[in-house]
Amino acid sequence: MSLQQTNFAEAPKAPPNVMIIFGSTGDLTSRKLIPALFHLFRADLLPDTFAVVGIGRKPLNDQSFCKHLGKKIREYVGDSFDQSTWEKLSQRIHYLQGDIDQPSTYDDLNQLLDTIDQQRLTEKNYLFYLAVPPSLFGGITDRLSDAGLLQETADDWRRVIIEKPFGHDLESARKLNHRLHQHLSEHQIYRIDHYLGKETVQNIMVFRFANGFIEPLWNRQHIDHMQITVAESVGIGSRGPYYEEAGALRDMVPNHLLVLLGFLAMEPPNSFDAPAVRDEINKVLDAIQPLTPEQVLQHAIRGQYAEGLMPDGKSIEGYRQSPGVKSDSTTETYAALKLKMDNWRWAGVPFYLRTGKAMPEKYTEVAIQFKSAPRNMFKNTDTESMKADMLVLRIQPNEGIQISFGAKVPGPTMRVDTVKMDFSYVDYFGNKPATGYETLIYDCMKGDATLFKHADTVEKGWEIVQSVLDVWNALPPRDFPNYQAGTWGPQAAEELLNSDGRRWRRIRTNNH
Ligand code: BG6
Repeated sequence: MSLQQTNFAEAPKAPPNVMIIFGSTGDLTSRKLIPALFHLFRADLLPDTFAVVGIGRKPLNDQSFCKHLGKKIREYVGDSFDQSTWEKLSQRIHYLQGDIDQPSTYDDLNQLLDTIDQQRLTEKNYLFYLAVPPSLFGGITDRLSDAGLLQETADDWRRVIIEKPFGHDLESARKLNHRLHQHLSEHQIYRIDHYLGKETVQNIMVFRFANGFIEPLWNRQHIDHMQITVAESVGIGSRGPYYEEAGALRDMVPNHLLVLLGFLAMEPPNSFDAPAVRDEINKVLDAIQPLTPEQVLQHAIRGQYAEGLMPDGKSIEGYRQSPGVKSDSTTETYAALKLKMDNWRWAGVPFYLRTGKAMPEKYTEVAIQFKSAPRNMFKNTDTESMKADMLVLRIQPNEGIQISFGAKVPGPTMRVDTVKMDFSYVDYFGNKPATGYETLIYDCMKGDATLFKHADTVEKGWEIVQSVLDVWNALPPRDFPNYQAGTWGPQAAEELLNSDGRRWRRIRTNNH
């Protein structure tokens, strides 16, 4: 039995509740939310006193809504699908047809929830999942509040889950938080960053803090620098209209990449409780030195891909040729940053971040480069060019941890070569079917906000990228497109490290 299964078996069921999904006929619901509920239900983590309500404009009823979801779920849960679990879960799924802009919809919702509470003993605990664009968050919470549905009592809870983007810059992020706080206390708001749902991201904390040997090395004395890479092999596809407004920096850095950085650089929290963990992550973000305009020009690199060939020989059209993209678009599809921290542990240690679309591989990893041994004892031998030790945390795919270090090549002469020790998740724990949303939904039902973002964290993330956005907006790029699809990004990104005497780790998924 895998550890994950053991964990599931030991975990208590979520408390009674109803999950109400806005945007229930959309992609996120069928691709992630319902499959995640399916996995939770199959693992016996949802109580009998649980129900789902989907709200939407489409003229559906409970049966036709379940039929629509049933068609998709087979596709999205793959081999882990089984008919009897799905039938049991679908008996708990309801549909409410209504316009989310109309107060009457919320009166109908109130009535439906009363009925469900009586039938299923759901104890008036409601989880509202807003699987809708952020422009609708404010209106929906206004009307939920008017209908009295956000008011908690001593005996029940009301929680709201929302997804990024949390604003498109610092000012809009602040406005969004302000708007949400008009009707909700911070403890009721669960902001999802799906990177926090990834087992390997959570494992960064376990790796650092559950093992006595690693933490003494985790500082400026022993670490030369870190590289965080989130590379995607897909181009922009049909997401042009969204992406034109976002770009790689906004889309990935203030959220996913800074989440990784937070876990990598944080001090040990006093406990694994939400306030303790969030405080430490916020301290990391506070310690990041804001980039001056001059530093932005040197330490922030942007790129846009042109048509190119992927390693499998397929060609990807240029970003500017994608549907919904302007033919002279200046939106970046690649961003790289060099950040430094003003704190005791990390003074002088650079953190290099890069993310891009249309890269040769879909690959997320953190490479931690240790300092070289203080003295090379192997002078005048083949080992003079010995590489410093490196630790690689593979976030996805092939989740695992790899350490490379020098070892003597057997034989009469002194030769040292770099060898690797590799731990692979799948070898130890087997394959675990999951969407990444299971833990997040389950934690929200339990009221555990550790893996969700606090309002302050969101704003601090935007503070860090705002100086880059300002300079980039003021100085549109003149060299776009500046990298070919199927390559590792613009030349300037190579130079960012080369000028520090370093280079990006070469990633080839078949050679880790
Ligand atoms: C999303 C971005 O938040 O994360 C997408 O909007 C990106 O552009 C995705 O593709 C990447 O997530 P993952 O889990 O595939 O690394």
